[in-house]
Order: sequence, then C-alpha cells, then structure tokens
Amino acid sequence: MKILAIETSCDETSVAVLNYGQDGSFDLLSNIVSSQVKIHAPFGGVVPSLAKREHQKNLAPILEQSLNEAKLLQKIQNQKSRIQNKSKILEEILDREPELLKQIVPFFEKYQKPDIDYIAATNGPGLEPALWVGVNLARALAYFWDLPVIPVNHIEGHIIANWLPIANSKSQIANRSDDARFTTRNKLFPAVCLVVSGGHTQLVLMKDFGQYEILGETRDDAAGEAFDKLAKMLKLGYPGGPIVSEMAKNVSPAERQKIKLPRPMLNSKDYDFSFSGLKTAALYYIKTLPEEKIKETASAICAEFQQAVVDVLVSKTIRAAQDFSAQSILLAGGVAANDLLRNTLSAAAKELALPFSSPPKEFCGDNAAMIALAASLKKEKISWEELTVNANSRI
Ligand code: KG4
Ligand code: ZN
Repeated sequence: MKILAIETSCDETSVAVLNYGQDGSFDLLSNIVSSQVKIHAPFGGVVPSLAKREHQKNLAPILEQSLNEAKLLQKIQNQKSRIQNKSKILEEILDREPELLKQIVPFFEKYQKPDIDYIAATNGPGLEPALWVGVNLARALAYFWDLPVIPVNHIEGHIIANWLPIANSKSQIANRSDDARFTTRNKLFPAVCLVVSGGHTQLVLMKDFGQYEILGETRDDAAGEAFDKLAKMLKLGYPGGPIVSEMAKNVSPAERQKIKLPRPMLNSKDYDFSFSGLKTAALYYIKTLPEEKIKETASAICAEFQQAVVDVLVSKTIRAAQDFSAQSILLAGGVAANDLLRNTLSAAAKELALPFSSPPKEFCGDNAAMIALAASLKKEKISWEELTVNANSRI
C-alpha cells in the first residue's frame, strides 16, 4: 500500500510517499521538506499569514518533486476534458487557496493518477491557516484521484518519527523494512514519551500504537519556544534552539555556574512544566548587564538556560517512567535534536536499564514522513468531504 502524506502545520511544507506492508514493513520512497525559516526569521517567530502564503506557493512543486522522487509520475497527453468535469468542485475545495488552485490544475492536466492508495494529512494541532492549506490540498487530491483520506495528529506523527529509518543522505533513504522495533512492541510499551517542539511540551504515556494518555504538559511556553525567546532577547537569530545549543557548546561548567537560573516546577508532584518564569529570570539577568557585557556573557547564559530546560525535562520524564513502570523512554519533536537533551535523557534511561529512542535528527523537526508512517498504522479511513482542520486537537 502507498500513502502520500502532507504536513503544513507550522512553517515547514512537506510531502512524503511511503510504501508499507501489513506486516509492519515499510519503505520511505520520498520525503521533501521545504523550510520557511528565512521568511519568518525577521519576526523572531512564525507569522501564520505568511506561513499560509508560503505553503500555498510551495505545495504544488513539492508534491511534484515528492512523487517524482518516488518514481510515481507519468505524463499524459490530454486530460483537459476530465479536468473540466471536476474543475467546479476543485475550485470550491481550493476557494481560499487560489494560488494553489492555479498550480494544481496544470499538475492534474500533466500527470496520470499515480499509484497511490491513500492520502494522509496533518489536521491538527497547529496553526489553523497553515493547516488548512495542506488539508485542502489533501481534499483536492483525494477528490480528483478518488482516494480515501487518513487524518493524522501532529503530535502522534512526532512520536512515530522514532520508527523512521536513518538516512544515508538527504535524498537517498536507506531501507529499514526489517526494523525490529516494530515487532518488539511488547518490550516497548508502555513507553513514556517526551514531546518537545516549538509549539508543544508534553509527557505522553504510550500504551501501544494509537493509544496515548497525556500525563502532563507545559502551562505556558513550549520548550522550543523558550529557546526561541531567549535567542530573541540576546539578538542571536531564529530559530533559537539550534543557535542556543551551538553557543552553549564550549562553555565550561564553572563558567556556566556563575549564572544561576531557576528550574521551574522541578519538584512539583505533577508532570507539568512551566518555562515562562525561566524566560523572565533570564530577561532580568540580561537587564542587569551593561550593554557591552551582554555579548561576552551570551554563551554562558545560553549554557545555563539550556541546562535548566534539560534538568527539568529529564527529571520529570524519568519520574514518570518510574511511576508508570515504563518499559522504554522515547523523545520526540524539534527540540529532540538538542544534543544535551538526547545525551542526558539517554544516560538517565540507561541508569534505569530502560531502552531509549530518539528520532534520527533529520526527522525531529516537522516532516511528512512521520505523518505517512503514523497514517500507515491507522485503520480508520474517511472521505475527502469529511476531512477538516482541528487546530486545537490533542493526541
Ligand atoms: O517540531 P518543530 O520543527 O516544530 C513544531 O512543531 O513546533 O520544532 C521547532 C522547535 C523550534 O522552537 C526550535 O528552536 C527547536 O525546535 N529546536 C531546538 C533544536 N533544534 C530545533 N531546540 C533546542 N535545540 C536544538 N538543537
Ligand atoms: Zn512539530
């Protein structure tokens, strides 16, 4: 079976094609990701209206590239009459995405229906205007090619990224269809999964594929958002996470410890997080510094800030793993690319003799491959008319 998946929940436009068997084997045929980081950087965060505009502009070329890489595109001579039959409903589906409609009509005219069985799309949580572009493209494709649709929760996608293969290079994805992790589920579940991204920070108890319980979450900022805000305060650029961790790299423990930032909710009995107090503490500290001192202290501030975030995330994850007798610990989301977090959580899991997994770095951030793989695990399919956006949905 082949799934074509679309991800547009934030500032990444992505289309992937996955081939899978009923036995849990799979083969990622393509995964094209186009980042809008440069567009949003001047604003220090994602601007929803710009994200929508960019998704509209980029989706059709990325769709074509993804299907082409999966070797599923075949040109046809003349399909104009078929388009005419269907153009009215296509116009209705893409009424709010005129730019996408303009590009998708020639695409339909140019290529035969590809050998695809299902269309999957992220339908939430995420930025509503951004989500609608991907969802409406999924509706248009499913309508035009007469295919069933599989809606996918974005957070579940991030978790399932733990089962994606390690790539040889950006465009050549290695076959890991014999991935043993799919067949050893009894040994993995229940798993405690820490999901940390720009929009979310959640501790999830995963009882099986498709069975999740949220144990705790952030009460204010997400972990990635906190990194982004610190980078903005220090005028370091966007997105902040990778920059902050790079700045922190060569700071000695002694240098870092000269700055003392709080570890919010470290000892609270629940599994919730809070990062806004940490952000405010960093802001107050920066304000005490004379302008010329900020630059030379920035690395140490980044190191202490990163350590504070990691201390809280790891401590609560480990406590949840113990309290719920977890059989494994998983890390997921954009912030899972953070080396200090990966290494510290991995070492803490080792101490408990628990298996630990984090996605290959290229699959930590938003991508459609994780959406395709999550879709392949779902039994329920719907029609294009039933697909809608649920921007505040929970896992
Ligand atoms: O999952 P993602 O791509 O998008 C959302 O669903 O939000 O996560 C993006 C977030 C950004 O806040 C970014 O700063 C953060 O992940 N991030 C990192 C690192 N790489 C990306 N945070 C800390 N360390 C990193 N190496
Ligand atoms: Zn995400």
